[in-house]
Amino acid sequence: MNILQVSSEVFPYSKTGGLGDAIASLAKAQAETGHHVTIATPLYKGIHEKFKYLEPSGIELSIVIGRKEKTAKIWQLKPSKNLTILFLDQLDFFERNSIYGQEDDAERFIFFSKAVVQLASLSSPSFEIVHAHDWPSALVMPLLSIHPGNIKKIFTVHNAAYQGRFSGDKFELTGLPKAFFNWKQMEFYNDINLLKGGIIFADLVTTVSPQYAKEIISPEYGFGLEGVFKAKGNKMVGVLNGVDYSEWNTINNRYLTAPYSADSPNSKSVNKVALQSELGLIQKSEIPLFGNISRFTEQKGIDILIGALELLLENGTIFQFAGLGSGDSSLEYAVKKLSERHPGQITVRIGYDTRLAHIIEAGADFFVMPSRFEPCGLNQLYSLRYGTIPIVRATGGLENSIIDFRLGDAIGTGIKFFDPSPRALSEVLDLAITLYHDKNRLEKVRDNGMRADFSWNRTIADYDRLYKSIDHP
Ligand code: ADP
Ligand code: GLC
Repeated sequence: MNILQVSSEVFPYSKTGGLGDAIASLAKAQAETGHHVTIATPLYKGIHEKFKYLEPSGIELSIVIGRKEKTAKIWQLKPSKNLTILFLDQLDFFERNSIYGQEDDAERFIFFSKAVVQLASLSSPSFEIVHAHDWPSALVMPLLSIHPGNIKKIFTVHNAAYQGRFSGDKFELTGLPKAFFNWKQMEFYNDINLLKGGIIFADLVTTVSPQYAKEIISPEYGFGLEGVFKAKGNKMVGVLNGVDYSEWNTINNRYLTAPYSADSPNSKSVNKVALQSELGLIQKSEIPLFGNISRFTEQKGIDILIGALELLLENGTIFQFAGLGSGDSSLEYAVKKLSERHPGQITVRIGYDTRLAHIIEAGADFFVMPSRFEPCGLNQLYSLRYGTIPIVRATGGLENSIIDFRLGDAIGTGIKFFDPSPRALSEVLDLAITLYHDKNRLEKVRDNGMRADFSWNRTIADYDRLYKSIDHP
């Protein structure tokens, strides 16, 4: 099939979270199975400098946005067989210091979606599938619906909490018929809601885990769009993301001090010492070490984590904690304070650092994800391969990918808890510490996780099947 993937993030060119990893690995896996895959994404600041081999495609588009006309010059890259990445170059919109959170995000991503649709219409042979992801690309769905042709439209929701909701007067920027601005289509309480438009106009919607597909039809997880999700019925399906193990592995990894694997796990401890040394933790291998790497948002339950660590400290429990993340400034402040009060035991680096992310994944004994919701979650999948036992709240993709070791040593890969509270998390942290000191059991659970396969090989056929199942619109 000739497939166009549309995303505001693609690793290694751009990434703020799992979206960048998920798109890069999905497209790569599809190309490896023989599909012709193109990814369309913005050319952000710094990409050109870092990836010097981008080539001009010769295409330059002109897009009307409000009263202005803006150009998009298209650069291309062919990183592997069957895979092309098209970068949309628009300096005024994308040469910024951060990808999201700009006051003209509506203009920026409406422009992006309009440019992608124009690009798709020029493509020969034409795309059979256009697959867009999350709110920044969602407008591609309604825009395609007014174009003649028989492209199948698929839309994936990676996170329903981010909807691309803007004041209603931005609707005219889309160039869509005014009639689309009604509550059954693109309007949401007088605003324009791009995610809603993506869901409604897609022929098929996917989310990134089966459990999340069940959760988002409820008010607790749907963020106001639960009815829209529910109305999709069997046109909404959950497919768990896969991992690109050529990026996330412990054998051939330039960031790690010592390679290790399920067949030879012993050098994991060398990486633990390296992590302790890098972050200024006391270098003792017998102290259980918890890790976390996260965007600091309500979603990730960092407040729950802080509360649970405080409960452990109150009880004099012996453990260490290594964290990395950034986001909400009050959470950044709270974790900083906690680590300042417990030097050598708790360290949290504020920032974004891919190298340190690999080092924490490899060096920690347990990886803690107390998410309030987690559409898929990639860190728990990386942790499994890195022999770092995930401790997760049973929600979304965490529920689907981790098996609690209390269900049996033969199958267990992690530890689950249900109530999103510091108390419930601290109880499973205590349980993890008990497991840590039960060496045989610990090694078995670790081994089960390291041998689990969450590559796209498991699920890529699901996408093929779903693409094929769409009747020509
Ligand atoms: P989400 O997409 O909700 O942030 P995921 O678990 O799907 O959560 O993916 C997060 C990805 O972003 C992982 O690859 C993780 O390592 C990475 N990441 C998150 N925060 C940081 C950070 N501060 N530094 C480096 N990588 C980070
Ligand atoms: C979102 C979700 C995360 C998921 C990622 C990739 O950012 O929060 O759970 O793993 O997208 O699909």
